[in-house]
Amino acid sequence: YLEVGVAFSGQVPAEYIRKQTLTGAERYLTPELKEREAIVLNAQQQVVAREAELLKQLCERVAAAAQPVLGSAQAAGEADALQSLAATARELGWTRPAVSEGARTEIVAGRHPLVEAALPEGVFVPNDLVLDPDAEQVVILTGPNMAGKSTYLRQAALITLLAQAGSFVPARAASIGLCDRIFTRVGAHDDLARGMSTFMVEMTETANILNHATRTSLVVFDEVGRGTSTYDGMSIAQAVVEYIHESPRLGCRTLFATHYHELTALAGRLPRVRNQRVEVLEEGETVRFLHRVVPGGADRSYGIHVAALAGLPPAVIARARAVLGELERQRPLEPAAQQLGLPLQVPADPLLTELEELQLDRLSPLEALQKLYELKSRLP
Ligand SMILES: Nc1ncnc2c1ncn2[C@@H]1O[C@H](COP(=O)(O)OP(=O)(O)OP(=O)(O)O)[C@@H](O)[C@H]1O
Ligand SMILES: [Mg+2]
Repeated sequence: YLEVGVAFSGQVPAEYIRKQTLTGAERYLTPELKEREAIVLNAQQQVVAREAELLKQLCERVAAAAQPVLGSAQAAGEADALQSLAATARELGWTRPAVSEGARTEIVAGRHPLVEAALPEGVFVPNDLVLDPDAEQVVILTGPNMAGKSTYLRQAALITLLAQAGSFVPARAASIGLCDRIFTRVGAHDDLARGMSTFMVEMTETANILNHATRTSLVVFDEVGRGTSTYDGMSIAQAVVEYIHESPRLGCRTLFATHYHELTALAGRLPRVRNQRVEVLEEGETVRFLHRVVPGGADRSYGIHVAALAGLPPAVIARARAVLGELERQRPLEPAAQQLGLPLQVPADPLLTELEELQLDRLSPLEALQKLYELKSRLP
C-alpha cells in the first residue's frame, strides 16, 4: 500500500483505491500494486508446490532403486561392523580364538572390555576359565561384594559371543566350543507393567533357562535366589545347580555366582561342580580386593565393609556389625548338605520306567499293540 498523510490527501490521484484510514494518514492501493501482490503470493504457493513435486520425484527415483540402495546400506553396515571389530581387536590387543565343535571352553587371561576400559590402564586383573560338560561343568563362584563376580561371569559370556560372531576376543588365548545358545540370568529388575515383581522376573527367567538350555548351551546365573528370603533363595539356588548337573538334557557349561557360601558344599557331592572364589586380602579392619579368581570357596561376603565404603552412616555400620556378631553367635550357618538335603536325582517319568521295564520278547504282537495304545492314552 501507499501511505499518504492527511495534509496531502487532496493530491491523491483518482485511480488510487482507499484501503485503510488511520489517524493522520490514509493507505491506498493501486491496480499495479494489486497485480504485484498477486504475483508475490502466488510465487510462494508455487515454490511449495514445486518443492513437493521435486521431493516426490526424488522419492520415486529412490524407491525405484530401493534394492541396490538397501543392498549398499547392508554392505556398508557389515563392513563398518567388521572394521569396528578389527580396529578394536588391534587397538586393545585381542587374540584370535580357536572355535571348535566340542563343548569345552578355555579362556586364558580373559578380560571384560568395558570394565577394563573404565579403569586406569593396567588396573584390570585378567582371569582364566575352564568349562567342560565332561569335567568342569558347573563353576560356583563365591567372593565378597565388589570383588568382581558379575564381571567374571559377563566376560565369559561376552568372549563366547564375540568368538562365535567371528571376532577376536579380549583374552591372551581362548578356545571356545560352539554354543547353541548363551543364557543369562543377571541383574535385578521388576516388570510392573507386565505384573511381575523382581523375584517373579528372576524366577521366570530361571525357568526359561532350565526349560530350554541344552548340553551345548552356556548358562550364566548371577545370584539366582537372592530376591527372596535366605532359606527359600538358598534352596532354590541349590536345586537349580543340582538340576543342571543331573538332568540328562542339560549338563551344560554353567557359571553360578552366589553369596550363599553353603552352596560350595555341593562340589563335594557333585563330581562336575567346581568352586572358585574371587580373592581378597584382609588387612586388619579393611579389605583389599584383588579381583583374582582362584580355586576354592569363599566363606564371607564383607557386605558391611562395602556398605561402609558406600557411605552408610557410621552408627548404622556399627549397629550392623553388632547384629551380625549376635546372629553368627546364635546360629552359625551349617553346610548345605545337612541343612537342606534335597534329593539329587531328578525323579524319572513313570511312563519311561514302565517302557524300560517292558519285556518285549514275552508279548504277543496283539498284546504289544494293546500296551502301546494304553501307554499312549496315558500321555499327559
Ligand atoms: N578383574 C577385575 N580387575 C579389576 N577390577 C575389577 C575386576 N572385576 C571387577 N572389578 C571392579 O570391581 C567392581 C565390582 O565388580 P562386580 O560388580 O563384578 O563385583 P561383584 O563381585 O559382582 O559384587 P556384588 O557381590 O556386589 O554383586 C567393578 O565395577 C570393577 O570396578
Ligand atoms: Mg555382582
